[in-house]
Amino acid sequence: MTSDDMAVSERALAWNELKARVGACQKCDLAHTRTNVVFGQGAVDTPLVFVGEGPGADEDAEGLAFVGKAGQLLTQILNAGGISRGDAFITNVVKCRPPNNRAPTPEEMMYCGDYLEAQLLLLSPKILVCLGNTPTRWILKTTEGITALRGRWFDWRGIAVLPMFHPSYLLRNDSRKKGSPKDQTWQDVQALKERLDQLRKEKRE
Ligand code: URA
Ligand code: URA
Repeated sequence: MTSDDMAVSERALAWNELKARVGACQKCDLAHTRTNVVFGQGAVDTPLVFVGEGPGADEDAEGLAFVGKAGQLLTQILNAGGISRGDAFITNVVKCRPPNNRAPTPEEMMYCGDYLEAQLLLLSPKILVCLGNTPTRWILKTTEGITALRGRWFDWRGIAVLPMFHPSYLLRNDSRKKGSPKDQTWQDVQALKERLDQLRKEKRE
């Protein structure tokens, strides 16, 4: 076994341990009301991670991130931009559903944020897309709003961070007019695709 193989298998072990730990978590009250813990899913050997806010009703029922209406819209938007959702890992700041889809509390995010941080360190992606205010504020430690931050590139520990509107927000703001949230998101998806293509090119060279 080469040292590279070793690192890979140790990483897989740490990932499985993290998943088991998150799956059994009782650190906050969301543990009492959840149906399933939503660890996140998708490719683990990937340059691209998406992070949302927290599971909704469909995600809680299925134990998978972004499988409801918002998730379906996200899949469509990515497909339109030539990005396959299955090539990315997708998760949330909090892994258990906040009742009635309220925003996660600072305490819930403090506990669960440690898990997200561990996921990101193990996945070590090149690009992190933050969907909406909650993940953007958590990652960038800012109180700025998504409208000001979307479409701009930031850095989190050497990972390029791109805030985009949350797909639920786009469901509520359906206009495709120039300058609308959907139009802006389309610009962001194209910028994301460009950056991914650039990464692939650099990898081949
Ligand atoms: N909204 C989110 O933020 N995350 C999900 O997984 C689903 C909806
Ligand atoms: N609030 C959010 O959390 N996300 C958006 O995309 C828009 C408003």
